[in-house]
Amino acid sequence: MKVKIAASILNADLARLGEQVREVEAAGVDMIHADVMDGHFVPNISFGPAVVAAIRRSTALPVDAHLMIAEPDAYLSAFWQAGAGLITVHVESCPDPAETLAAIRRMGASPGITLNPSTPVELVERLLPLVDLALVMTVNPGFGGQPLLESALEKIARLRRQVVAKGLRVSLQADGGINAQTARRVVDAGADNLVVGTAIFKHPDGVRQAVAEIRRALDDRQPGDG
Ligand code: DX5
Ligand code: ZN
Repeated sequence: MKVKIAASILNADLARLGEQVREVEAAGVDMIHADVMDGHFVPNISFGPAVVAAIRRSTALPVDAHLMIAEPDAYLSAFWQAGAGLITVHVESCPDPAETLAAIRRMGASPGITLNPSTPVELVERLLPLVDLALVMTVNPGFGGQPLLESALEKIARLRRQVVAKGLRVSLQADGGINAQTARRVVDAGADNLVVGTAIFKHPDGVRQAVAEIRRALDDRQPGDG
């Protein structure tokens, strides 16, 4: 299984959003990651469904909506209508996560579940059979450009063991602080999908070079190879 790269547009130049999305697509990323923040669940505000729809119009790649919002149930359909094929919700913000994940699937989208660095991984483990993707936050959500929290790697490893033991087809995504220096450790822990924002969009030599560096660092290793 090839490791996927999801480009987070949080730190892209939003004045040239379409162009930036086309640049990362041409550089070979696998999906576009939209970080939705509401100023309640996290102490920052980013963008909503209109920006997701603008991404959708700019690329053929899958669009992955990471909802860092209170009451995600009220907005699932808006993000699905906007073109997010994968919708990831935080276990901390759902009164009934299993029901939220089922609602995402009923709409026709792929459900993803995620958790903050301080949340016990057990809360997500029991939901693995209901999702297509589990996202382990490797920073506290809210801002791009933070350093990766090494303590999150054990959660990835533990979820990988569960996925293998249960024979599930669940992708394990990691998000925050991933760059050419950290990517390999995250994949060695068991992730098969890396969200990368700052390291792509703020790279001094441009996005093509940035993506190439990350691919080189991964060196075609398999998730969980150790
Ligand atoms: C953090 C977001 C991340 C983050 C990734 O709240 O979920 O997607 O922006 O960006 P970098 O790569 O800058 O850590
Ligand atoms: Zn994210």
